[in-house]
Amino acid sequence: ALERTFSIIKPDATRRNLTGAINKKFEDAGLRVVAQKRIQLSKAQAGEFYKVHAERPFYDELCEFMASAPIVAQVLEGEGAIAKNREVMGATNPSDAAAGTIRAEFAESVGENSVHGSDAPETAAVEIAYFFSGLELVG
Ligand code: CMP
Repeated sequence: ALERTFSIIKPDATRRNLTGAINKKFEDAGLRVVAQKRIQLSKAQAGEFYKVHAERPFYDELCEFMASAPIVAQVLEGEGAIAKNREVMGATNPSDAAAGTIRAEFAESVGENSVHGSDAPETAAVEIAYFFSGLELVG
């Protein structure tokens, strides 16, 4: 079914001017960018977005990193978009990511791994609503 997922191009990638290269990977895989904005998160806003990870040892470092430079928040649409996006991103840790995936090609480490993508329809809905209003989603 036609689905939407939430994606972030992370600070390590915007810093290296990789927004276009990453969007090309999405588009080549049949995903359509139906909303997109480049924004600077505060550490508190990053913390709210990643609050499910609040008890993890890397939480503070993760929030600092996500506020260290602009991000590009996006909504991607396509057939099975959630799974397709996860496939195109590759494994969280770039050393485990399959060849040709975004993280294999661009990620610097498990923390600075270039992209985030929703893991399920429920989280996609919550994450999209955190960053975008309905009027900003243009299929
Ligand atoms: P993401 O899909 O954005 O969701 C949570 C993020 O936490 C994850 O990608 C990684 O960037 C980060 N993360 C996961 N494991 C670690 C780790 N061991 N050290 C630092 N960051 C991590």
